[in-house]
Amino acid sequence: MPHAAITGWGKAVPERILTNADLEKMVETSDEWITSRTGIRERRVVGQHETTTSLATSAARMALERAGRTPDELDLVVVATATPDDFLVSEACLVQGELGGTAGAFDVGAACAGFVSALSVGSQFVNAGVYKRVLVVGVDTLTRYVDFTDRSTCVLFGDGAGAVVIEATEEKRGLLSTVLGADGAGHKHLFVPGWGALVPESAGLFPEYRPYLQMNGSQVYRFAVQVMGDSAAESVHKAGLTFGDIDMLIPHQANLRIIDAAARRLELPREKVWVNIDRYGNTSAASVPIALCEAADSGALHEGDNVVLVAFGAGLAWAAGVVRWGTAGVEPPCCQARERTTAGVTTGEESDE
Ligand code: ACO
Repeated sequence: MPHAAITGWGKAVPERILTNADLEKMVETSDEWITSRTGIRERRVVGQHETTTSLATSAARMALERAGRTPDELDLVVVATATPDDFLVSEACLVQGELGGTAGAFDVGAACAGFVSALSVGSQFVNAGVYKRVLVVGVDTLTRYVDFTDRSTCVLFGDGAGAVVIEATEEKRGLLSTVLGADGAGHKHLFVPGWGALVPESAGLFPEYRPYLQMNGSQVYRFAVQVMGDSAAESVHKAGLTFGDIDMLIPHQANLRIIDAAARRLELPREKVWVNIDRYGNTSAASVPIALCEAADSGALHEGDNVVLVAFGAGLAWAAGVVRWGTAGVEPPCCQARERTTAGVTTGEESDE
């Protein structure tokens, strides 16, 4: 069975930084409250000319460049998002349209658990031998749906995108295990009333009605602490590994206390946990791939490392998996292959000369 190695990674965040000090001027809150309860110091917020598609496309281009691939080499584009730019057209089609090529394109909706879910979907196309090369993107612009007069939610979220290219290899690389779960009965603990086809009656009665994210923070917190630890641990066991085999935990960045609880469950010290919540807040489906991209760029991930990805979010849904890092056995990009060929072997062109 082919495996699906991660060969390229990229990220994009909006230019505008919204600090805790900025929020202190907007709602009754304090830097002390936000940092001590969540670990967030600042977040990125989309400006007028930044969109879900522009962020996703930038991250995707970076991932393709790192992989040494062009859009027309992709077989499939899968985008995880809860904030597509269009209701009818999938975000994946919008991104594919910007990139070019004719790859298949569709979205996966699992809110903050979306990227890990989409990675599992994309990997299975590769595992099944159906496709060789898939672009997986996690992107969200949740601040468009955040009420900036509601201090219980507006301090938590930021915008961004992260992307990976996965490619077929015979070596054991990429996603080794997948754990997906949901508690749909709890969906009202975190949702955006009136943003779907089901328009609440109140929308018609009250013209001032606005579709903003609503959250029962303490319920979501309890749920998150439970499922982040449980699903991460299950993904390790399912991969046939023990906690001692894990080199890095890359968790969804929603709350530092939730991240710490997941790390404790896997018996991992802080240096093996990737944390960037202080700079980005909760970027929903983008949080895991942005963190993955930063970990890879920093040199913290090495060929053969076992990396746990775990996320939870609206749904209520969760997703976890162990990725074996590295590109062993992946067919090299054609330009590199050409370089390798020309380095040691006389090409036809040269022998003509
Ligand atoms: N500044 C100051 N005070 C605040 C703020 C704020 N920004 N927000 C809430 N408070 C107040 C509350 O009103 C409450 O006051 P009260 O006791 O007088 O009623 C007090 O602080 C304590 O509130 P708690 O809810 O008990 O605070 P808690 O320690 O639980 O932290 C938090 C709240 C940070 C929201 C936490 O519950 C949490 O992180 N929950 C998970 C949320 C989450 O991760 N959601 C995203 C899911 S991912 C997705 O799919 C989008």
